[in-house]
Amino acid sequence: MTTAPTARQNAVGTAHTRIEGRDKVTGAARYAGEIPFADLAHGWLVLSTVARGRIRSIDTADVLAMPGVVAVLHHGNAPRVETGYVGLLGVPDPTAAVFQHDRVPHAGWPVALVVADTSEQAREAAEALVVHYEQEPHDVDFTAEHPDAYPVDSHGPAVIEKGDLEAELAASAVVVDAEYTTPEEHHNPMEPHAATARWDGGRLELVDSNQGTFWVASELAKMFSLDPASVRVRSEHVGGGFGSKGVRAHQVAAVMAATELHRPVRVVMTRRQMFSLAGYRSPTRQRLRLGADADGRLRALEHRSLSATSTVHEFIESAAGPARTMYGADAHHTANRLVRLDVPTPTWMRAPGEAPGSFALESAFDELAEKCGLDPIELRARNDPEAGPVSGLPFSGRNLIACFREGARRFGWADRDPRPGLRREGRWLLGTGTAAASFPAGAGPSTAAVTAEADGTYTVRINAADIGTGARTAMTLVAADALRTAPDQVRVRIGDSDLGPAFIAGGSMGTRSWAWAVTIAAEELRERLALGADIPPEGITVRSDSTEAIGALAQKERHSFGAQFAEVAVDPATGEVRVRRMLGIFAAGRIVNPLTARNQFVGGMTWGISMALHEEAVRDRALGSHYGADLAGYHVAAHADVPAIEADWIDDPDPDDPVGIKGIGEIGIVGAAAAIANAVWHATGVRHRDLPIRPDRVL
Ligand code: MOS
Repeated sequence: MTTAPTARQNAVGTAHTRIEGRDKVTGAARYAGEIPFADLAHGWLVLSTVARGRIRSIDTADVLAMPGVVAVLHHGNAPRVETGYVGLLGVPDPTAAVFQHDRVPHAGWPVALVVADTSEQAREAAEALVVHYEQEPHDVDFTAEHPDAYPVDSHGPAVIEKGDLEAELAASAVVVDAEYTTPEEHHNPMEPHAATARWDGGRLELVDSNQGTFWVASELAKMFSLDPASVRVRSEHVGGGFGSKGVRAHQVAAVMAATELHRPVRVVMTRRQMFSLAGYRSPTRQRLRLGADADGRLRALEHRSLSATSTVHEFIESAAGPARTMYGADAHHTANRLVRLDVPTPTWMRAPGEAPGSFALESAFDELAEKCGLDPIELRARNDPEAGPVSGLPFSGRNLIACFREGARRFGWADRDPRPGLRREGRWLLGTGTAAASFPAGAGPSTAAVTAEADGTYTVRINAADIGTGARTAMTLVAADALRTAPDQVRVRIGDSDLGPAFIAGGSMGTRSWAWAVTIAAEELRERLALGADIPPEGITVRSDSTEAIGALAQKERHSFGAQFAEVAVDPATGEVRVRRMLGIFAAGRIVNPLTARNQFVGGMTWGISMALHEEAVRDRALGSHYGADLAGYHVAAHADVPAIEADWIDDPDPDDPVGIKGIGEIGIVGAAAAIANAVWHATGVRHRDLPIRPDRVL
């Protein structure tokens, strides 16, 4: 349906700085929480202080008398909304539908919105609002035994069991049987969630920070029973999303307040509130059993994962999923199970499933390599499957071992002495480790419009979300090549639900999904122009819808792959672990913009350092809420934690994509924590199966 990528011009594949980069660094780019509106009111969310129970009463009178306060919305006076619908991404989390009942299912549940003329007045009043609760016993303890855990499907069935696991384990010369845990981890995009709602000429307009305006607009239309055409959501610049920026309490509260008060209302989450309202990564407990012949060939692979969700919505962190793609075994068992606790609902967080799952799987593989006396790369090469180990489907491209070979060469792996605990440099023990990465490569249906303007330039309308990834720039390069023109002849409009349906910035699918629709429209426009049409003053516009093209793809295992390498230094006296260098080599489809792609990979790997060594949200069992829910109490890797990180890629165009794209948003974090944990073992001789690898665990 499209011409081969090689026949194109070469904007794609050439480094370009972000189109909006200058606006961002000069402050000209406005984010959702700072766009001015006349007569703007400010809402401040009040969150429950109890972990389970019901609201008995709310003393609003004193607060309503405070300076500037115009309203207090709560379950007793807020408008009713719809929650029983199926949205674009399934059944929505009812947590976003605020103030619908008096139940409190977890600490940090939104119980009221105080609205005032200024943000300071709203905050002062919100802090003064007295809410009386009836408390009930709660359970937030993930570490306890959970006999009531149950299997939950996500992308695939919850449980897949192929072959006789116990028989293959019994017949194995080498067995690894280990449990791994990962903690509750939180989204901390630089820009907190923020939304301003207003009614404008009969239309609801939301200025927001999200990962897909069409998605948010359609959810709000359903929730408030509005004609979808009467809802407009704009999201021009987004300071990070990572899975947390969908439909959440602040947007719904802002719409309710704007509707009641007939004036624009802004609601911004504080950093601390984000720990309750933004979603997060569930803790996991994972058991791995690997059985192999003496030469390392896998006979048995079992990966069972347990994660937690709230009592109001089912979200599963399917950490046992990646094993289904990574390695074949005669008996192959995987299971994802869930336990309900009195905690907020978790959500997608960069590489959901793959990030914690790869920590356990790739650590266990390192343990197996040690027991087999094999190099860990060689062990993976011996178990690299021809086809999907569980699905039996062919791979659209699997260059995992090529990534390992290239990474090993550049990292200097060949000189490595596999024995642990031997290298010393002053007070430091040194070690190196490696791990595999993979992430699904998909595309979602999108629409685009490309206009040939009378002045010879082009305008592209694609409802992409640039969550800091450089999506606007990527679309410019893709369109320029498809139109056979230079990038500076193309202007791209994104981030506005009025531009029409498009896939979200999520699942590592944004760039590929949008590029597909843009390519279809641009190529058709180019063909029309080649016929020699005169361009009228309003230009010539071609619209596309990629639904059919994407639906026609043959069934294959579609994934990106990668190899992670890390070198660490461990101080056995203090327990401190320092990552000295990392290298990631990826096979992740055609790279649209090498500059921003490298940012993406390095960003993911940096998060891997954070995951391996630092991040951990700790709940107080008695209160049900967090200790230190802020950037002081919850450490995210900072510059001082991050050494030389190098990311690069091998040529790996997707043969079934018009541009050759696979998607790169998430794979950078996958396997990174395992590579570091494996390096810590190599340095010290001690396996760390619980993240993060804190100093007290090293000692
Ligand atoms: Mo990503 S976790 O799909 O935003």
